[in-house]
Amino acid sequence: PMVEFLNFEVLEDHGWALEDEDLFAKAADANLQSTDFGRFYVDPNDTLLEAAEKNGFAWPFACRGGACTNCAVAVVEGEMPSPASHILPPDLTEKGIRLSCIAAPVSEDAKIVYNLKHLPEVRELLL
Ligand code: FES
Repeated sequence: PMVEFLNFEVLEDHGWALEDEDLFAKAADANLQSTDFGRFYVDPNDTLLEAAEKNGFAWPFACRGGACTNCAVAVVEGEMPSPASHILPPDLTEKGIRLSCIAAPVSEDAKIVYNLKHLPEVRELLL
């Protein structure tokens, strides 16, 4: 799968929201740094976090086992199934929030906002 990614801190800086229909189009026009906005390919056996690291990106993580939410991302477009065992409450998974250390996209393309640990609902779960 090919992943297009955006840093959640950029949303905060620009006053954009996860729900914005044209979020990634706005990002494409905003002249962002390559660590904040870009794309990479996820190999079939890698988690999203592993794929980001293989491509040289230092995305946040701590436990690497679905227990801390430091690695949380929001799936804006595409399919990224959530494994059964993890710490996220259902209201967050229903909003498309996933843990990048234990999940990966299965659709051909996906749009992902990373650094979701700065989202207030996720921040309050951080250990
Ligand atoms: Fe802790 Fe992913 S790194 S849940």
